[in-house]
Amino acid sequence: MKTISIHWKIADPPSLPVIWKEIVPPKITGAPRDLALGCAAGTNDFLNYAFANSFSRSCGWLSHHPAAKDAASLFKRGVALNEISKQDTVQTGNYNIDFFSAQAQIEKVVCETGSFVIVDNSVHIKWPDLINKIPKKYIVEIDEITKNLDTVADIMFASGTLKKWICIGGGVLTDTAAMAAALTSAQITFVPTTLLAMADACVGGKTGVNFAPFGKNQVGRFYFPCRVVIWDGWLQTLDPRHITGGACEGIKHTLLKGDKNLYQEIFNTLQDDKKSFAGILPQIIQIKADVVSQDATESGMRATLNLGHTLAHALESMSQTNNPQNPIAHGEAVGIGLVFALYLSHYECGLSKEFCKQFADKMHKYGCLLSQKSLETFLKSPLNSSTFDQLLEITKTDKKADQNSVYWVLLNSFGNPYFEKGDYKKTASSSSLANSWDSLLAALK
Ligand SMILES: NC(=O)c1ccc[n+]([C@@H]2O[C@H](COP(=O)([O-])OP(=O)(O)OC[C@H]3O[C@@H](n4cnc5c(N)ncnc54)[C@H](O)[C@@H]3O)[C@@H](O)[C@H]2O)c1
Ligand SMILES: [Zn+2]
Repeated sequence: MKTISIHWKIADPPSLPVIWKEIVPPKITGAPRDLALGCAAGTNDFLNYAFANSFSRSCGWLSHHPAAKDAASLFKRGVALNEISKQDTVQTGNYNIDFFSAQAQIEKVVCETGSFVIVDNSVHIKWPDLINKIPKKYIVEIDEITKNLDTVADIMFASGTLKKWICIGGGVLTDTAAMAAALTSAQITFVPTTLLAMADACVGGKTGVNFAPFGKNQVGRFYFPCRVVIWDGWLQTLDPRHITGGACEGIKHTLLKGDKNLYQEIFNTLQDDKKSFAGILPQIIQIKADVVSQDATESGMRATLNLGHTLAHALESMSQTNNPQNPIAHGEAVGIGLVFALYLSHYECGLSKEFCKQFADKMHKYGCLLSQKSLETFLKSPLNSSTFDQLLEITKTDKKADQNSVYWVLLNSFGNPYFEKGDYKKTASSSSLANSWDSLLAALK
């Protein structure tokens, strides 16, 4: 059995602020959900205030209200509270990612008695024989709309007093259940069932949920699983759009690392046998594991893993608002975001235009890029400059945005992310943004 060992280290607070602001919500009502989350009454009011006033991740909070403490620990996965000048608590740990080749190995893990097993409803439907063998399970029907604090509270309530959890599902459930585990200090094992969750979401300790109307993955914690078990057999029942979407995250890793063989291997796998990623998953995961073991919190090079995600999150947000019944999937948005980010890298950092074009053609050829028509359907909006302006407006709520400036992860060349003056992120000019949008539209065909 192949195993990857992950070592993690996390400071509290995850990053030090550059400015401090008083946080004084006009009214502290205290929602019943605050208590269900094990937080002080008023936590939701503090979160709402901070989002409504565009507080950034680099802004520390000044308040002695008990709810401010809980809210600050969740806001954008944790901001500093009250004049902290250094990160004096550092936690460290290890966990293994085990790769299984047989269903029986998975069954042994998930059917262990004494565990609280959280299962994605689609997985229950597609794998009834396996899932029905699990003694105590909690089936969750979840999507990006219900990836929220209410679902976190429901999972916490359902777990009762059990502190050994197993989560079987895609990235949406994994992020949500892991946040619930963080709030109850439960030990959680991930059993990812989508390619995206295997290649990306199960590694790195980012947990969290959306906080409407303020955007995606805006509240959460850094919290690590005690184990991850990967079995690519789950992919047999996955919709093809989630296979290509998951592949996009793997492609992103290879663009950052500059691994030409693996980059091509991912596309080859999509062409040959879309469901047989077992051979290359360990290499894909290792790239992310290496990055997050150096920088768990995005204060440094982990930020590069957001390549393509600034536009992707805006696309998801617009699609979820305009078309909640049939929104774009995260991986689909990442595919588009990557093509955009590469063209932006051309206009801002001199990445070769030929490489951008080859990349876009490859993404198109292997089904990793939506057509203009499909994107318009998901967004319920024509792909014109007004829609682009709206998307840019949404990017200002991105976790990487600061005081209304939007920062982009870019590539100087294949395997060489932009890095200057200690920062992996860069602002972009309006003309570069507009040119990249035009290039993207040409690529979507
Ligand atoms: N924490 C992280 O570091 C990180 C990294 C990348 C992405 N993410 C998050 O992951 C989420 C996307 O994850 P996703 O693409 O797995 O989406 P998802 O969890 O919504 O899964 C996609 C769909 O497939 C279904 N499904 C799951 N497993 C299945 C199976 N084996 N067979 C059939 N259907 C199955 C799900 O019910 C869902 O309908 C996003 O919310 C994103 O923000 C997190
Ligand atoms: Zn992603």
